[in-house]
Amino acid sequence: MDHLVSMKQLTEEEIMALLERAETLKKLGIREFPGKYTVSNLFFEPSTRTKMSFEMAERKLGLEVLPFESSFSSALKGETLYDTVKTLEAIGVDALVVRHPEDGYYEELVGRTSVSIINGGDGSGQHPTQSLLDLFTIKEEFGSFEGLNVLIAGDIAHSRVARSNADALTKLGANVTYLCPTEWAGEFHSVDSWDEVIGTSDVVMLLRVQHERHEGEELFTKESYHEQYGLTEQRALQMKKNAIIMHPGPFNRGVEIADSLIETAQSRIFKQMENGVYIRAAVLEEILKGRH
Ligand code: CP
Repeated sequence: MDHLVSMKQLTEEEIMALLERAETLKKLGIREFPGKYTVSNLFFEPSTRTKMSFEMAERKLGLEVLPFESSFSSALKGETLYDTVKTLEAIGVDALVVRHPEDGYYEELVGRTSVSIINGGDGSGQHPTQSLLDLFTIKEEFGSFEGLNVLIAGDIAHSRVARSNADALTKLGANVTYLCPTEWAGEFHSVDSWDEVIGTSDVVMLLRVQHERHEGEELFTKESYHEQYGLTEQRALQMKKNAIIMHPGPFNRGVEIADSLIETAQSRIFKQMENGVYIRAAVLEEILKGRH
């Protein structure tokens, strides 16, 4: 694999191989990767989980990590993303983790640079390593995906997490249902109410309300959103006993999920963050082993 830009590019076998490698790394520990490779993390949008867990994985793999701060880079002088990547290619970087607000930013890079691109999130497009860590967390819990009922609830139209997981979970045989206000459904079909789905879902995956991607006046107050579309304490009581709660983070406490449910026994939210390090190490290994 030269690049990882979208879950659409991965076959079922490739996904399962990455999940199995992450499982091994979690069991045995992340070891130094042979050879001397240099990577950099180019984040043009805020991030805590993705940036930090990539950096943790890179350090554990013994990679050289060149620091990059978009707010102190020549992007501020108008340098394009393409020219930034070509500059880092010339300097000798092997792989770049890139987060950028533009959907499909990677299309102008792949095939025009020898640097491997790992997509850390493009606008409302894809977030493949988030999807892989979500799949890893689900597999740890249930062992497989076939026939699992996964509910994705929240700001779906603006969510690269929803888009990546919809592609991957369907490919792996899960039944995916969506719940959101009609205005935020995008290309997805939303069910009408929590009552239809809460009692049968194995995974309840909440998504953040992405105020930064909304135009015009907000449709909901925090309270009205929570009441209509959030996972309330009352709704959580209707979940199956072995069902789990997931959220990619960052979460708005009391909006898409009740504050008290973030660290409840059924929540796997912090487990998802932990698993992100192993998934990102597995992806980096897979990408770097193809380089010479
Ligand atoms: N889940 C996720 O992508 O979080 P960050 O924006 O903090 O990286």
